Order: sequence, then C-alpha cells, then structure tokens
Amino acid sequence: MAAAAIDALNGTAALAAFGEAVAGCTRCPLAATWTQVVFGAGSPTADLMFVGEAPGFHEDKQGLPFVGAAGQLLSKLLAGIGLTRDDVYICNTLKCRPPGNRDPLPEEIAACESHLFRQIELIRPRVVATLGNFATKLLSGKPDGITRVHGREQEVSLGGSRVLLYPIFHPAAALYTPRMLDVLEADFKRLPELLGREDAQPPPAAPPPEPAPEPAAVQLGLF
Ligand code: URA
Repeated sequence: MAAAAIDALNGTAALAAFGEAVAGCTRCPLAATWTQVVFGAGSPTADLMFVGEAPGFHEDKQGLPFVGAAGQLLSKLLAGIGLTRDDVYICNTLKCRPPGNRDPLPEEIAACESHLFRQIELIRPRVVATLGNFATKLLSGKPDGITRVHGREQEVSLGGSRVLLYPIFHPAAALYTPRMLDVLEADFKRLPELLGREDAQPPPAAPPPEPAPEPAAVQLGLF
C-alpha cells in the first residue's frame, strides 16, 4: 500500500481513538451540564475543515455538529460550491454545549483548545475555515473580529503544519440578518480557489512516535 494511504488510515484510526478519549473529558464544568461531547464529523482526511463556536441544543442531543438551523444553512452553502458535509470535516471551538447557548467563556476555550489543535494535527487539512469570532480569534491568535477579517486568508501554523486560515461569518449571522447571506456566499465562493492553491499542499505526515523507552517510566494520559 502507498505511504500516503497508510498515513491516511493511521490518521483516521488515531482521530477515532482521540474522539473516544475526548468523549469522557471533564476538563471544564460544562461536563456537568451536557448530554454528550460533540467531537466533530465528516471526512477524517478532509482538505477543508470548518470550526464553529460550540454545540447548541440540537447538536448536544444528537452528538453531531451543525445539525440545527445554522447547520442546514452550512450544508446549503457547501452545496453551492459543489461540496457535501462528507467532503469536509466540521467541528467546534468548544466540544460541549454552554448552558442556554451562551457565549463560550475564556476558561472553557482554554480548557478545550488542545482538543481542536490535536484534531487539526490528525486531519491535516489544507484550509481551516473559521466560522465566527470565537474560532477566528483562537486560531489566528489575534483579537481582530470577524467583521474585519472575514474573507481574508492567512497562512498560519496549526497543529504542527502550515495551513490557510480562512475566516468566514458564522452561518447563524445570516439567520438573524438575511443580507449577511450574500457576504457568506461570496466568502464561500473563494474556497475552491483556496483549496487549489499550490501553497496549500497537504503537509508531510508527522514522523512516527519514538518507541517507548524500556521500561516505560511514565504513562501519559490524553488529558
Ligand atoms: N453553532 C455552532 O457554532 N456550532 C454548532 O455545532 C451549531 C451551531
């Protein structure tokens, strides 16, 4: 089997195992109020990854990201550029629903961010599209809000690789303000071009981990 196919299989298995580990996460108090962790969904080898804010009511119940009204709009926007949800990977900044869908708290983002960075490391997308302010600020490492930076790609290092970060308004914005739909559609239309860019080639696979020293002195958990 070709090396790239073996890398893909290893990455897929590692992402599934990581999802199982994160399902039991208790790093922040949201673990006491959710129905379940909403890890992410879609292709584990996607070139394009979307990162939203946090699960809402329906996502919390179903265990899948973007299955409510904003998610239906996301599916439509994807269809508009010839993609389905199975072609991409979709997840959130927070993996757990904040009560009443309030904004994520800084300490919740801090507790959860390494889950997202590990997902990016395992999926190795070419383009990471951030939906809204929370994902954009976290992954750009800058305070600039989405109104200022939407539609402007930037090359960043995430999860150990260079990726194109592409901020887009959150689809929920167009549910509240219908004229935002034109802006969202225009920003989505640029995605095929960004995915085709030479400099957005998939990064080389990470080298396999060093064999554990004998005897293994410390057993490191995932959390
Ligand atoms: N909004 C988000 O940011 N994420 C979801 O999964 C659903 C709505």
